[in-house]
Amino acid sequence: MRKNIIAGNWKMNTTLPEGLALAKGLNEALKGKSTKCDVIIGTPFTHLASVAAAIDTQRIGVAAQNCADKEKGAFTGEVSAAMVASTGAKYVILGHSERRQYYHETPEILKEKVKLALASGLKPIFCVGEVLAEREAGKHFEVVDAQLKGSLFDLSPEDFGKLIIAYEPVWAIGTGKTATADQAEEIHAHIRKTIANKYGKTIADDCTILYGGSMNGGNARDLVAKPDVDGGLIGGASLSVEKFMPIVEAF
Ligand code: 13P
Repeated sequence: MRKNIIAGNWKMNTTLPEGLALAKGLNEALKGKSTKCDVIIGTPFTHLASVAAAIDTQRIGVAAQNCADKEKGAFTGEVSAAMVASTGAKYVILGHSERRQYYHETPEILKEKVKLALASGLKPIFCVGEVLAEREAGKHFEVVDAQLKGSLFDLSPEDFGKLIIAYEPVWAIGTGKTATADQAEEIHAHIRKTIANKYGKTIADDCTILYGGSMNGGNARDLVAKPDVDGGLIGGASLSVEKFMPIVEAF
């Protein structure tokens, strides 16, 4: 069964004390509340273990925002998938456009990261999405197809079934410019069709596809009302409980 998920991506924000306070605040806000979606928070590496120990991880899943494309060894400064898993985190965001753009992560590198994450028992939240020029040239469908094929379509059906996909149009990230609910639905349905063509209808129907890009308490309801939009990956609005909770409650 397909799950609804609201996931926060804190990016490079919050010191450890600030992040702990945010996580605990969200934990409190969710206590005793029944929601129609799973909730995940993607914290900096430095916060993972402390956050996982401070909250009810049955209620709030913890995600890293990246992991290394190597298993272990002499790779100074890198953090492996196994290290992430050992903190109590259950998810890892991979392929975010900021990593593709600023850290030159290629489809081949991401393919390795996905493999290693799965081998460590982490669930990847794999991001795809086009830049503005690609959307304006009508190339968004082929861009996301290439991103899916380039990093994920060598996986076995069983492994593919463990993934969460996040569609994040780069032009909507941090810009206050959200894709309309109809634009999101159009491309989410397309992504599901691409997955169905490769892995079959059951796996495609069960796959959670999140929307990301300036999602907030004001637009979340319209977005998640669409049949192929199964939740959101939230940047800015995940940095305060007051802004994040209305999105969690949008279902
Ligand atoms: P914003 O919600 O700040 O636009 O960020 C979206 C995003 O990149 C989540 O991964």
